[in-house]
Amino acid sequence: MTTNDSGGADVPKALTYGRYLRIDDLLALQQPRSDGPEHDELLFIVIHQVYELWFKELLHEIDFVKQLLGRDESSRAQHTLKRILTILKVAVSQIDILETMTPLEFLSFRARLEAASGFQSDQFRQIEFVLGRKTAAAIDRFPEGSRARAELQRRYAEPTLWDAFLHYLSREGYFVPPAHLARDLTAPIEPSTDVQRLLIDLYRRDAKNAELCERLVDLDEGMQEWRYRHVKMVERTIGAKTGTGGSGGASYLRTTLSQPLFPDLWEIRSQL
Ligand code: HEM
Repeated sequence: MTTNDSGGADVPKALTYGRYLRIDDLLALQQPRSDGPEHDELLFIVIHQVYELWFKELLHEIDFVKQLLGRDESSRAQHTLKRILTILKVAVSQIDILETMTPLEFLSFRARLEAASGFQSDQFRQIEFVLGRKTAAAIDRFPEGSRARAELQRRYAEPTLWDAFLHYLSREGYFVPPAHLARDLTAPIEPSTDVQRLLIDLYRRDAKNAELCERLVDLDEGMQEWRYRHVKMVERTIGAKTGTGGSGGASYLRTTLSQPLFPDLWEIRSQL
């Protein structure tokens, strides 16, 4: 409600595209730090902001898949996983855009980033946490009382997508060892021969749930693909230089490659 021009009774402002989407606020959020500013800094800011929006949407959808599995709504869970994978493909392909920025173009404003780095993206860490890759050290990097720290602490204690999946399989009649159903939710997801035995049986006789497993493999592969494309972009843009976030740069990022989120789903392939 707002006051009208004659100072009379409040009248509601009609909703418009701009008001609904807060376009004025959105367009005010890109604040280059370089002098000029340097031409390429706008692209750098926009692409990171777009990523953060996709991260937000991915978390929203992954949480929904967990809920749907909890309600045994597997076909809707599959449908939502398909959406997640489509977003992930778009997110991975956006790296192509940033790769049009040459090393010298990046250097024109890189020093202005100071210690800022994607390494500090709490939403990326939240995605890692909900997919089972949790570390207490990742929480400690965010200040006490911050939104980021509170979100990460919450997700650290919560079941991961894999936990939701194992509980769903148990309700579907598969024997999931009780130790897996009551596991320490903060611990990494370790390969398990018991779970692999169950999955091999499932793949051989349960097409519906085998499809669900395949979508989880797609998600795992999609995340690995993002990491691979990101490190290649880093190599071609800054070579072997250290990162603004203080790591060794590409050498650190290479240590994060080829680490599956759901190791059992990969392990069974050689046994099928
Ligand atoms: C020119 C483009 C880019 C360069 C040179 C670059 C460089 C780096 C480097 C060197 C690191 C390692 C941490 C550090 O020491 O800073 C890193 C981490 C990271 N970057 Fe980028 N980055 C770029 C674009 C992006 C984009 C567009 C995103 C999207 C959000 C992103 C997200 C991340 C994330 C999430 C990490 C943490 C990865 C992990 O710890 O596994 N980066 N980046």
